[in-house]
Amino acid sequence: MKVVVIQGPNLNMLGVREQTIYGPMKLEQIHAQMKEFAESNGLEIEFFQSNLEGEIVDRIQECMGEADGIIINPAAYTHTSIAIRDAISAVALPTIEVHISNIARREEFRKQNMIAAVCSSSVVGFGPFGYHLAMTGMGQIFNEINAMKEAQKMQQDAAQAAQA
Ligand code: DQA
Repeated sequence: MKVVVIQGPNLNMLGVREQTIYGPMKLEQIHAQMKEFAESNGLEIEFFQSNLEGEIVDRIQECMGEADGIIINPAAYTHTSIAIRDAISAVALPTIEVHISNIARREEFRKQNMIAAVCSSSVVGFGPFGYHLAMTGMGQIFNEINAMKEAQKMQQDAAQAAQA
């Protein structure tokens, strides 16, 4: 199964920007760890970063039919973007929102969150480790989806056998 990781504006500057808030890790290092997790758990993974809202909306839309789940840090767009919210809602894929910092403990404007309500779950305030938690969570969601599909198939097979 495939996860697409979408990173919003200024996350390409991790390791440089506001290290007291976001820490010293670079985005490439975070992605390398996520890739390692994916490989050892038999998952496909793809990464996308953009500073542009429309490009993020396009990438979310492309996930339909291509990916089984999305991990997204919409960064500053979390607090403003109805377009990203609507795209997540439209593709109806399991989606985990990640924030490196604890947005509930920061400025008032960061308490407004357009995204959380359309996500399956949120990981907030764990630093870069939050991406690892999101990968573990996505693995669990995939296990549950597979178990449900298997149970449905067994039910269908049993119903067919009963009709024959
Ligand atoms: C962030 C929090 C946002 O408020 C901020 O604009 C970011 C990063 C985080 O990961 O903590 O760019 O999403």
